[in-house]
Amino acid sequence: MALSQSEQKVLAATTAVDSLISEGLIFSGMKIGLGTGSTAMPAVKRLAERIADGTLKDIKAVATSFQTTLACEDLGIPVYTLNDRAIGGQLDLAIDGADEVAPEKTLIKGGGAALLREKIIAYNAKHFAIVADESKKVDGHGTGFALPVEIIAEARVPVVKALEKLGAECVLREGVKKAGPVITDNGNMIIDCRWKQKVNAAELEEVIDDITGVVECGFFTKNVPVVFIAHADGSVERM
Ligand code: 5RP
Repeated sequence: MALSQSEQKVLAATTAVDSLISEGLIFSGMKIGLGTGSTAMPAVKRLAERIADGTLKDIKAVATSFQTTLACEDLGIPVYTLNDRAIGGQLDLAIDGADEVAPEKTLIKGGGAALLREKIIAYNAKHFAIVADESKKVDGHGTGFALPVEIIAEARVPVVKALEKLGAECVLREGVKKAGPVITDNGNMIIDCRWKQKVNAAELEEVIDDITGVVECGFFTKNVPVVFIAHADGSVERM
């Protein structure tokens, strides 16, 4: 029987953690960045299981969101900040989910509004791993999942004008079970951007991040990850 999307997420996450342990990329004493979302969570759980079964010891985690911090606290994974002396601003590996994965392994992230800390952690990790179900594979960015852009609230109107000049259709992300906009873990707002045609993610990441009032955008093009994609037939593809 075909695996559901949530079963694929668990399969991708557990396969990735176990494979990265066998390959020595997840190891005792390491500093690991932990992502956010419904695929990153089973990876966090698998890591906790491998700590509990004695495979891994002295793991130091840095979480990308309140969601992940709470999960680590509940699962007994010690959480640090990137700035703690024990971490020193550098991680051995970060593992996270994604909203889109293109063939050249550029990503869109930020569906859970955690893109800023996700990118800080991904870009300060020696290795980066992505776990995803097959729906996340795309042939290019721009027209599918809307690109999240985290902005300073006071700069909303000029930032939207600048994004529109780049051809984007912009929507302020609204909260669920909360009136008004989503406010990120960092106190900012999110503008979701979609184009009528495919765009160059690597170029646009720099251009968008250069707009005054933009804190960060959800294109991830600079630390190319190893990607684990689970399929409905139960296979896990490695990109
Ligand atoms: C959160 C993210 C997530 O990793 C991304 O949205 C994928 O989420 P999920 O695994 O729940 O589909 O970038 O900001």
